[in-house]
Amino acid sequence: MSSLLAFSLLLGNALSAWANPLPRQLPSFGTLKAAAAPRYFGAALGVPHLMNFTHDPLFDVDAVLQFSGATPENEMKWMNIEPERNMFNFTGGDIVAAFANANDYTLRGHNLVWYSQLAPWVETLTGEDLWNATVNHITTVMTHYKEDFVLYCWDVVNEAFNDDGTYRENVWYTQLGPDYIPNAYTVARSVNSGSKLYINDYNTEGINNKSDALLTVVQSMKAQNLVDGVGFQCHFIVGELPPDLEQNFARFVAAGVEIAITELDIRMNLPPSEADIIQQAKDYTTVVNACLAQGEACVGITTWGITDLYSWVPSTFSGTGYALLFDDNYVPKPAYNSTIYALQGLA
Ligand SMILES: *[C@@H]1O[C@H](CO)[C@@H](O)[C@H](O)[C@H]1NC(C)=O
Ligand SMILES: *[C@@H]1O[C@H](CO)[C@@H](O)[C@H](O)[C@H]1NC(C)=O
Ligand SMILES: *[C@@H]1O[C@H](CO)[C@@H](O)[C@H](O)[C@H]1NC(C)=O
Ligand SMILES: *[C@@H]1O[C@H](CO)[C@@H](O)[C@H](O)[C@H]1NC(C)=O
Ligand SMILES: *[C@@H]1O[C@H](CO)[C@@H](O)[C@H](O)[C@H]1NC(C)=O
Repeated sequence: MSSLLAFSLLLGNALSAWANPLPRQLPSFGTLKAAAAPRYFGAALGVPHLMNFTHDPLFDVDAVLQFSGATPENEMKWMNIEPERNMFNFTGGDIVAAFANANDYTLRGHNLVWYSQLAPWVETLTGEDLWNATVNHITTVMTHYKEDFVLYCWDVVNEAFNDDGTYRENVWYTQLGPDYIPNAYTVARSVNSGSKLYINDYNTEGINNKSDALLTVVQSMKAQNLVDGVGFQCHFIVGELPPDLEQNFARFVAAGVEIAITELDIRMNLPPSEADIIQQAKDYTTVVNACLAQGEACVGITTWGITDLYSWVPSTFSGTGYALLFDDNYVPKPAYNSTIYALQGLA
């Protein structure tokens, strides 16, 4: 199916849901995207989720009403977009991109160089052959999206560090050394796609060895005009946020880059306790406020999904879940309310 056709189907479903609204339990005081403006408020979106619109009339209305940003959850990752060498498959990425562009979402390209969800053939390459394949991947993917869509940014290198601040020993590091990072950004810059270039990671939200290492690389690349932004994933556990989010974000902003919250979710043990649900609402407020404290340098917030129904959390962190703003039935949680209040500067 062409992405245009796929998109027409999606839009058709969205329109029919508008015509037949179901009773909803959303508060009347605003939406995430209105409260977040001029920042975007985004969500990771996967094709399986988008394709279930017909079964989820609540979703399509809420997605269009509530959100103003999207990140393809898996569709642009290397194993999906270049599963065999020089055989590119843009089908899934194009569906998410078409939906995002048609709804004027801020679209984040995710991602180009990452050790996980990597096509297996890449890990068999060595030396210059690996580098050539990487240049081809970055150039071909960015050029395709530049020609057909508008992307706000690309996560060029994802999760390049270990928690102790050393470089992660992925295939690029072991074959090419640490310069693979600035070199990947040099290639991405040369595509001149009009998209900002981001570096994205987790466990870098507070001040620690890993965020120190990231900051050093960001400062160096910023001095060479290779990087524009830093993504802080923010996959958190309820009640366990780093105490120094705001200070840590501020030192990256001081390095001259913008920042974004890119993959926010706050998980808890299942079944959720009342205390954890209340703590989760406070934790979402804390994250929003750490973003707002950076002024316009914090450009947006993205949650890693809309509803717990499609969240990666339960299958990745066994026994945990309930991490997003909407539960399995799309009912907004106290964290949804607290997020809107915080975005409006009221908490
Ligand atoms: C589609 O949505 C319905 C209603 O929310 C849900 O029960 C079902 O599991 C979803 N299907 C898929 C494939 O995600
Ligand atoms: C391309 O990806 C889509 C999923 O996004 C999949 O359905 C399709 O089979 C893939 N095409 C090929 C030729 O592998
Ligand atoms: C890598 O690409 C360059 C430039 O196209 C080419 O000269 C070189 O032979 C390639 N190296 C390998 C190992 O394929
Ligand atoms: C942080 O890095 C220092 C060396 O710079 C090392 O001594 C220390 O063990 C590291 N801490 C952690 C928690 O990895
Ligand atoms: C959210 O706020 C609205 C409006 O104040 C209220 O009606 C609703 O009960 C709240 N929902 C939750 C889950 O706190």
